[in-house]
Amino acid sequence: MKLKYNIFVLNSLLITSAFASYLLNHELIGKISEAEVIAMSTIPNNQELCHKKNHELNNQDEINILARTCHEVVGNVEILKDYQDKYVDLSDIEKIHGDLSVHDCSQIISLNAPRLDTIGGGIKIKDLTSLVSITVPSLQNVHNIEFVTLPLLKDININRDIEQLDKLIISDTSLQSIESFQNVKKVNTLEINNNRYLANIDLHVDIVNEKLHIYSNADQAQVNFAKLSSTGDLSIRNAGSFNLNNLEYINKSLDIIENSIDQINLTKLKKVVGTVAIIDNDNLKDVNCNNLTHIEGGLLIINNDNLKNMDFLPSIHTIGGAIQIDGTFHKVTFEKLKVIKGGANFRSQSDKFNCTELLEPLMERHVIRGENLTCSSNMKNQSNLNQSNVTKISYNKTKTGKATGMKESMSSQTEITKSDSSAPSTTENSSKTGKVKSKKNSGLKLTSINIYGIGIWFLITFIFFSMF
Ligand SMILES: *[C@@H]1O[C@H](CO)[C@@H](O)[C@H](O)[C@H]1NC(C)=O
Ligand SMILES: *[C@@H]1O[C@H](CO)[C@@H](O)[C@H](O)[C@H]1NC(C)=O
Ligand SMILES: *[C@@H]1O[C@H](CO)[C@@H](O)[C@H](O)[C@H]1NC(C)=O
Ligand SMILES: *[C@@H]1O[C@H](CO)[C@@H](O)[C@H](O)[C@H]1NC(C)=O
Ligand SMILES: *[C@@H]1O[C@H](CO)[C@@H](O)[C@H](O)[C@H]1NC(C)=O
Ligand SMILES: *[C@@H]1O[C@H](CO)[C@@H](O)[C@H](O)[C@H]1NC(C)=O
Ligand SMILES: *[C@@H]1O[C@H](CO)[C@@H](O)[C@H](O)[C@H]1NC(C)=O
Ligand SMILES: *[C@@H]1O[C@H](CO)[C@@H](O)[C@H](O)[C@H]1NC(C)=O
Ligand SMILES: *[C@@H]1O[C@H](CO)[C@@H](O)[C@H](O)[C@H]1NC(C)=O
Ligand SMILES: *[C@@H]1O[C@H](CO)[C@@H](O)[C@H](O)[C@H]1NC(C)=O
Repeated sequence: MKLKYNIFVLNSLLITSAFASYLLNHELIGKISEAEVIAMSTIPNNQELCHKKNHELNNQDEINILARTCHEVVGNVEILKDYQDKYVDLSDIEKIHGDLSVHDCSQIISLNAPRLDTIGGGIKIKDLTSLVSITVPSLQNVHNIEFVTLPLLKDININRDIEQLDKLIISDTSLQSIESFQNVKKVNTLEINNNRYLANIDLHVDIVNEKLHIYSNADQAQVNFAKLSSTGDLSIRNAGSFNLNNLEYINKSLDIIENSIDQINLTKLKKVVGTVAIIDNDNLKDVNCNNLTHIEGGLLIINNDNLKNMDFLPSIHTIGGAIQIDGTFHKVTFEKLKVIKGGANFRSQSDKFNCTELLEPLMERHVIRGENLTCSSNMKNQSNLNQSNVTKISYNKTKTGKATGMKESMSSQTEITKSDSSAPSTTENSSKTGKVKSKKNSGLKLTSINIYGIGIWFLITFIFFSMF
């Protein structure tokens, strides 16, 4: 009997040490020291109670039993739809090595974990339609915080010193403030959406590595990320204003859609690695992106009815995708633009927008490399009797190159046709087309020579290397 017991203890010791080192190796245990883990694993007491893959708890009594014995719980703690009480109180539990999940339970009103300071994984509170408050005042170490579909949640009392998180998601709650998260400095994913009373989103985060999505909170929510310097995907919708004055890099795409903002101030922004979309911001009058030089994806500026003068990209040098600008704007200028790798579409309902004025310099500098280029506006030619006609200049670039590989895409012939009627005067259109054509032709010759040169270079390199 005694021998059996000893073997049992030895076995469980081995298993728990192995488990502890697994946890250590996989960094599942937050900031718990190695010594602590080893100390814990050498206490064979309460082995079975405290160590389980999943601790599923069905009522407060079961929680109390666990809490009394295990200040430190190894495994996940799960409170699911079979939970019978209105309150969840984790009382003396201090550490949970896995996740704390409370899901799908319509009677829970409050969640309280007064002494919990470490969660090795995340805290996921989701689909609790009666939950009003979450109290986790001592929490220091945690990777993910997800508070999702908690439509009555008004109060969170969470330790304000948390500085680093993997995910922070706050979605569909009645929170009026998320000040508790103000000191988070680094996070991979930050999503705040559908919190209809949340009118002020003010966080001091410096870096968001993957995505920052803010949408559908209180009408005209004030969004303040004054310290944010770089981010992955950035999307802001339905905001009344936002402060991103310190932002320098967007390493994925930028969406600014359906906001009631009247200005965008991104003066420090240098580069956007994805596409920039500024769409349906009805009040937007003023945009400042003075220092933005590269957009590696496309540029879409669509239906911002009060944005009349699009001169807000004075430093832009490269647009890596296509460009589409639609609206009622009067003027578009790109002083330093060298290349638009995709096509270009400009369409203004305004009668002040002059396609020729925009396109002539771009065509002369051979900026637009994509297949399609269209431009239309309602500009009336004062001395023209056909005043109601829309001016439409369509430069049609067709491929004739039949060669293979790189040559095909480069040695395309450029033909410019002018489709449409309302025609500026004959002299104007003929002189313009002539000019552009000759430019194109000389450009074409140059590229052919370059390709020829590159071809020879490759051939020589190839022969050189195949000699070994
Ligand atoms: C984005 O790119 C810049 C420049 O390459 C880099 O300094 C910054 O750390 C990156 N930020 C993120 C969040 O990836
Ligand atoms: C825009 O941001 C800069 C800092 O990057 C700041 O100096 C300036 O006052 C801001 N302008 C507005 C109108 O907020
Ligand atoms: C941005 O550009 C303005 C001029 O348009 C310049 O005064 C300012 O110093 C630049 N800011 C940064 C961070 O480069
Ligand atoms: C449109 O711009 C072109 C080129 O700058 C100019 O010659 C023409 O007069 C302008 N048309 C109108 C109606 O202003
Ligand atoms: C150019 O326009 C034509 C017809 O409008 C369309 O079929 C084609 O896909 C466009 N090409 C690109 C590269 O957008
Ligand atoms: C519009 O222009 C066409 C020819 O381009 C001409 O026949 C027609 O009379 C003009 N319309 C008016 C209202 O002057
Ligand atoms: C472009 O040119 C091709 C042939 O040159 C023609 O078939 C096509 O209809 C033109 N497209 C436009 C939009 O003018
Ligand atoms: C230009 O307008 C005139 C009359 O205003 C019309 O007869 C003609 O068909 C229009 N041209 C086009 C291409 O719409
Ligand atoms: C308007 O059209 C007439 C020819 O109908 C042309 O002589 C004149 O230069 C055009 N004016 C402008 C500003 O484009
Ligand atoms: C210029 O426009 C007139 C009238 O629309 C047209 O008859 C003529 O062919 C055009 N010239 C060129 C070179 O496109």
